[in-house]
Amino acid sequence: HGTSKINDKGHLEIGGVDSTELAQRYGTPLYVMDEALVRRRCREFVDAFQATGLKFQVAYASKALCVMAMCRIVEQEGLSLDVVSDGELYTALQAGFPPERIHFHGNNKTPMEIEMALDAGIGCFVVDNLTELRLLNAIAGEKKKQVPILLRITPGVEAHTHEYISTGQIDSKFGFDLGNGAAFEAVHEASQSAHVRLLGIHSHIGSQIFEVEGFSLAAEKMASFASRVRDELQIVFPVINLGGGFGVRYVEGDTPLPMSTYVEAIAEAVKTQFHAVSYPMPEIWIEPGRSIVGDAGTTLYTVGTSKDIPGVRKYVAVDGGMTDNPRPALYQSEYEAMLANRANDAADEQVSIAGKCCESGDMLIWDVQLPAVNSGDILAVASTGAYNYAMASNYNRIRRPALVFVKDGESDLAVKRETHEDLVRNDVVPERMKQKET
Ligand code: LLP
Repeated sequence: HGTSKINDKGHLEIGGVDSTELAQRYGTPLYVMDEALVRRRCREFVDAFQATGLKFQVAYASKALCVMAMCRIVEQEGLSLDVVSDGELYTALQAGFPPERIHFHGNNKTPMEIEMALDAGIGCFVVDNLTELRLLNAIAGEKKKQVPILLRITPGVEAHTHEYISTGQIDSKFGFDLGNGAAFEAVHEASQSAHVRLLGIHSHIGSQIFEVEGFSLAAEKMASFASRVRDELQIVFPVINLGGGFGVRYVEGDTPLPMSTYVEAIAEAVKTQFHAVSYPMPEIWIEPGRSIVGDAGTTLYTVGTSKDIPGVRKYVAVDGGMTDNPRPALYQSEYEAMLANRANDAADEQVSIAGKCCESGDMLIWDVQLPAVNSGDILAVASTGAYNYAMASNYNRIRRPALVFVKDGESDLAVKRETHEDLVRNDVVPERMKQKET
């Protein structure tokens, strides 16, 4: 997908750049982002919304991949940006992202984070709980500000990728529950808080979702709650945010819908549901993360050792693993791979791809068909754009890889590979440990 193809040397090419040349130039492991595909995904959401005639905002959920270059792309494509920590906020601001287009999420924003975001003049806080509401109101008061907020609602719709559970009460650390009156009380309190301006409500039902029903269900719950709030508190919400969660393809059998289909379904549900309660049509916000960057990313590894256990399995180890992609170990996520340097060779060997960390759980792919793999081959793992670099670690003091964007035959470094100095940069040897033991 995207701009990937096999070139006449039989090599995987991404964005017009030969992946084996990328591996040589930048080293491996290497995250390669197909910039054209990222931009296309941004536009798919925006174009689909434009066609609905609704007012909208698409905010990229930066948790999926938050690096300054990515913030630039999102800015250029006209999207807003969702951040969940001072670190993501800092990255966005350093990249020159307009603060008024930044939304701040999270269930435990610290006073420092709230101050930082208020000082930067961000566009909106998504308030998760009463403690935060009161803290935000107090800090904004000290700064003589009034800050736009959404209240995060737990809508009682939970998507487990394929099934939806609709219950009165959902066991979640996030948001105000609809079922027990918490959401209603929060709206009431927010409306009485002088230093916040209540724009509306927010819900997020899950991630890697392949169907539209969950979003329709959420829209329905939001509409009925909004209409109750209007009738009983005379408050009308100008904004409804339905979160992110649109699925992407990792392996054969994954069946994401075109992004326009999700948008059309959301628009349709919102129009129908809000119309049914004679509600002024709200502005619709969404927050896609994975679907903007997920399938635009490829990780290149160099194959090292292998271990063949006759009659059992052949392990092939690469120079990365759970440190650059913890998702298989964390969620049993599946990935597809190919040999980037021998893309046309027949895949006649079944192997399992191991990482280099010192633990047995460090496996990237179980049982994948590849051409007979040799040491030095370049392995490309697909769909690693979301929640890979973002969740990378220095476990075993492995250095985090470089990340490049490729487009129209050019590659540009967006994140440098960590150095050994980077690893010890924050280490301090206490004075008394510098002396020799006597
Ligand atoms: N909005 C909110 C409030 C969220 O919590 C999330 C994701 C998103 C938007 C974006 O969801 P997306 O479009 O990316 O599905 N680390 C996990 C995914 C965690 C998602 C957390 N929240 C993974 O690697 O699968």
